[in-house]
Amino acid sequence: MTILTVNNMNVEFATPDGRVKAVNNLSYSISAGETLGIVGESGSGKSQSVFALMGLTAHNGKVSGEANLHGENLLAMSKRQLNHIRAEKISMIFQDPMTSLNPFMKIGKQLCEVLIIHKGLSRVEAQAESIRMLDAVRIPSPETRLNQYPHELSGGMRQRVMIAMALLCRPELLIADEPTTALDVTVQAQILSLLRDLQHEFNTAILLITHDMGVVAEMCDRVLVMYGGNRMEQADTESLFAHPAHPYTQGLLNAIPSVSEDMDRLPTIPGSPPSALINHKGCPFKERCQHYKPECSASMPAFLPISQQQAIACHVAGQQTVTPLFNQPTTQSA
Ligand SMILES: Nc1ncnc2c1ncn2[C@@H]1O[C@H](COP(=O)(O)OP(=O)(O)O)[C@@H](O)[C@H]1O
Ligand SMILES: [Mg+2]
Repeated sequence: MTILTVNNMNVEFATPDGRVKAVNNLSYSISAGETLGIVGESGSGKSQSVFALMGLTAHNGKVSGEANLHGENLLAMSKRQLNHIRAEKISMIFQDPMTSLNPFMKIGKQLCEVLIIHKGLSRVEAQAESIRMLDAVRIPSPETRLNQYPHELSGGMRQRVMIAMALLCRPELLIADEPTTALDVTVQAQILSLLRDLQHEFNTAILLITHDMGVVAEMCDRVLVMYGGNRMEQADTESLFAHPAHPYTQGLLNAIPSVSEDMDRLPTIPGSPPSALINHKGCPFKERCQHYKPECSASMPAFLPISQQQAIACHVAGQQTVTPLFNQPTTQSA
């Protein structure tokens, strides 16, 4: 069952240097229990594309398009309507847990307030449910934790508390923006496996933002590759890794370090991401692309399917991959 359908979403900012287009005509959908990865280098518009869904776009920003959650357009909702949706249907976890945790409030109080405000539980019920949820995210002796402040916990434990808080109201959609980037490899693996378990238990759809192809391989059913605010490739995870079609995706996959290590840059794709200022024409990846052709400067390629599972926006690879389908040898009648 489809939960969220995003249609032609745009996010742009007014800056002293001109207009910045952070997200350009983005479209995708996500179903219950599914994990969709949004992957791309830093600055490709991943965070802004989900902030827009949550009504978190900065004041100098303008959002257009549609994001239908069960047929209701999130992008057209008032702050009040969004507040409801935000706790109950969609919630979000961030790289830094302190974005969602209040440093001055005990963990128990923070968890209970969510349940009291949004679910109308009594304090006693809320306390019991908070303990249950801390237990679900595998925090040992949850009763004790309720009386602690966030700074008394380790980074990994804080991340778990944030996940517990995000899942308290059993949202249908969990948006995770680089949830494990700041954690060491072992804790990262634990948190990812926790997310998977909770997803099974609650049938939550997860929109997982990452720059790490290893995380994509481990977690995602389908992947959306973004660059310069644009959708470059979309595929199921298996196809994406087996035969990445867009030159940018190929670059990302080639850039996976052989020894798993932390990285936020992908040094083996030469060049750096384009400025988001609106003044370039054509494909945003053109300066860095090994397959550059003049038409790449003329217009942004259309986003077109190259198979049932895969679609790309590329003037060159799009044709190369599609052509053989039509050039297949026809059986000669002898
Ligand atoms: N308030 C803002 N004003 C102007 N530009 C912004 C603002 N917020 C984000 N941007 C720009 O939007 C682009 C996309 O940013 P972001 O979504 O954070 O990228 P990612 O999450 O993929 O690293 C970047 O070029 C960033 O500088
Ligand atoms: Mg980001």
